[in-house]
Amino acid sequence: MNTRAETPDPLLVTRLRELGMSLGFAGALRAGVKLGLPDALGDEPAHVSVLASAVNADTETLDRLLRALTSHGVFEEVGESRYAHTELSRLLREDAPVGVRYMVLWASAPWTWEAWPRLDEAVRTGKAVFPDIYGKEFFAYLKEEDESSADVFNRAMTQSSAITSVAVAGTLDLTGIGTVADIGGGQGHLLRTLLERHPEVRGVLFDLEAVVAGADASLLPGGPLAERVTVVGGDCRREMPVEADLYIFKNVLEWDDDSTYNALRRVAEAARPGARVALVQNLVEDSSEMKVTTTMDLFLLLNVGGRKHTRRSLAGLMERAGIRQDEVRPVPSTSLHVIEGTVLEPKK
Ligand SMILES: C[S@@+](CC[C@H](N)C(=O)[O-])C[C@H]1O[C@@H](n2cnc3c(N)ncnc32)[C@H](O)[C@@H]1O
Repeated sequence: MNTRAETPDPLLVTRLRELGMSLGFAGALRAGVKLGLPDALGDEPAHVSVLASAVNADTETLDRLLRALTSHGVFEEVGESRYAHTELSRLLREDAPVGVRYMVLWASAPWTWEAWPRLDEAVRTGKAVFPDIYGKEFFAYLKEEDESSADVFNRAMTQSSAITSVAVAGTLDLTGIGTVADIGGGQGHLLRTLLERHPEVRGVLFDLEAVVAGADASLLPGGPLAERVTVVGGDCRREMPVEADLYIFKNVLEWDDDSTYNALRRVAEAARPGARVALVQNLVEDSSEMKVTTTMDLFLLLNVGGRKHTRRSLAGLMERAGIRQDEVRPVPSTSLHVIEGTVLEPKK
């Protein structure tokens, strides 16, 4: 190792200083969204004093926050203390047709500020730190004690589905499929997209009771797709009261391995041999957005003791559950892969 006291490359120093301050960047982004800046600023540039009265903030400190955000390309300063939208800041508007506002809020949800400082501990033990900090499991806590984070989570999932659903629906081959079940399907965005594309197919939306209660209105009684849809609430690790020709798990099998195995096993028990399984998720060894995927992998460790998988780790769990891993292919224009599988004959 070279231990000579040379002045390091200033670019390297800056890069590391930026990395070290990422928490502050996340905080600034969160504050901007919480203050409602993306919505307060319209198509025309506005002076910070106008924005300050619109969002009820101190003019001088708001100017400082905006300067921090513009350094990342979120808003731009177009005259002294006059700000305009950029492509990035527009995606944070509540009315963005397809936005990332809730994904940003979710990534910096209040619990994360308590959990990240204990990442070293999680890495040592291989276990979630969330239950130790908050006294209960992650999803139970969200449901029972942190309704606003639960709401942000559900909206973040719906926003992320809106971005990827069309590409995922285009990648899934539904030839010969009578019923498709979306397990952990959230509010049903992907299922809706699939059923709209395939008018002959029936669908099942399965997720936790509290989540399906807020399902997409088009799937619920009175909605245009309701006649072709069954909505089921439950825990897919415990029960799978659904018989389908294709079982989709999109961004669900990211818990601890026992939970992932149990969910796959419940499907293998419920399905006929030959039924198809499609896991749609990020692969941690092969992602077009490695920084997001690897950070999310650690985020999952902190909250549920979970992980992002590799092809091989999924193949092992699938096989143990009685599902053969078939083709694995990327979903175009997204960071996702589809991992296809087939339910095997039960072992005698
Ligand atoms: C990351 S989200 C993905 C949602 C959706 N599939 C998508 O891609 O937008 C994980 C989903 O799994 C659901 N979930 C978590 N634990 C579950 C369980 N035990 N049984 C069924 N669904 C569960 C959550 O409520 C959530 O909707």
